Amino acid sequence: MVGALKGGFVDRWIMAKGRTRTHAPLKLAVMRILGIESSCDETGVALVETTGSALPRLLSHALFSQIEMHQAYGGVVPELASRDHIRRVLPLTRQVLAEAGATLAEIDVVAYTRGPGLAGALLVGSGVACALAAALGKPVLGVHHLEGHLLSPFLSADPPEFPFIALLVSGGHTQLMRVDGVGRYDLLGETIDDAAGEAFDKSAKLMGLPYPGGPGLSRLAEQGNPAAYKLPRPLLHSGDLDFSFAGLKTAVLTQSQKIGPAAHTEGAPERADLAASTQAAIVEVLVKKSMTALKTTGTKRLVVAGGVGANRELRAQLNAACAKSQVRVHYPELHLCTDNGAMIAMAAAMRLQAGVQTAQAVYSFDVKPRWPLQELTPV
Ligand code: KG4
Ligand code: ZN
Repeated sequence: MVGALKGGFVDRWIMAKGRTRTHAPLKLAVMRILGIESSCDETGVALVETTGSALPRLLSHALFSQIEMHQAYGGVVPELASRDHIRRVLPLTRQVLAEAGATLAEIDVVAYTRGPGLAGALLVGSGVACALAAALGKPVLGVHHLEGHLLSPFLSADPPEFPFIALLVSGGHTQLMRVDGVGRYDLLGETIDDAAGEAFDKSAKLMGLPYPGGPGLSRLAEQGNPAAYKLPRPLLHSGDLDFSFAGLKTAVLTQSQKIGPAAHTEGAPERADLAASTQAAIVEVLVKKSMTALKTTGTKRLVVAGGVGANRELRAQLNAACAKSQVRVHYPELHLCTDNGAMIAMAAAMRLQAGVQTAQAVYSFDVKPRWPLQELTPV
């Protein structure tokens, strides 16, 4: 594995710098990778360390969430997001290095989120990563945000093994994938309209909950009756692995109009019931489709990733369904479910270890606001 690393990015790095082979830094059997995430409304920075082919280890990570700033507008304001990433990224980097007891000179590779996400926000992370790497004379690596989510469970105390089925549920994506290894992703199904996180957020807004609505809606749902209102389970019996959540939001709107002001009044039991019924509809579809994906592919391992993966009800129901079918289920640590720098550093580290990508001393960065995961190079 170390040989693969040396034959890959080190060689190219050396070539790019015009050095000879004898200058190959031997310490690259151990590599420290700085990861920067800035695709949306969280600035995340982290440092991971790889030793040979062992799973990379998280040395430190720091996060600043812009949620409070965007709440006043009911959603993310892209320009404000970009400006705030600029304010946060360097202090967070200093914090991460201090907490790891590392210096800038000890960074071997700088990784950043290349996409998908908000163009301006992505440009902050990629610009800083490339400037930092250029100043240090180190290579850079652009990471796919969803691959970060997908591989984040490898940072948990109970890491998965390949192959597995991945349920990727975030604010912008809902996908089921068969994952055979790093960079080997086979899309089985995805949402044809809204993402699961969007369904949570839009429904929560109708109930008068602040952005992002997912966590608030799920807390409110704990006090409600999930069978109180009959809401649709879109595409539940479609026979394929696609999702559709736009109709659910409309059904929640219709139901809340029937309920009247109580649907968005704090403390009203109807509001808690509506939250519980909405969550039940989303969770039932996600669980059913995940179990179908496992069954049809004959896979006995499930990985859940992305912000909605923090949802307690989803975890409880997936745990129960998987236990019944003798499927092992893995989640990222709760604090690494939503966007963070650790998953970006981790994905970069795993790509380098697997030899599916090289980091290069080329600093003419670009970002990919739209970037299907399947476009990542297979091994
Ligand atoms: O992965 P993420 O941080 O960002 C994207 O890449 O989109 O996911 C954010 C989404 C939001 O829609 C948020 O409401 C949802 O994850 N979310 C939750 C929970 N925590 C975050 N949805 C349901 N229950 C939660 N506990
Ligand atoms: Zn995300």
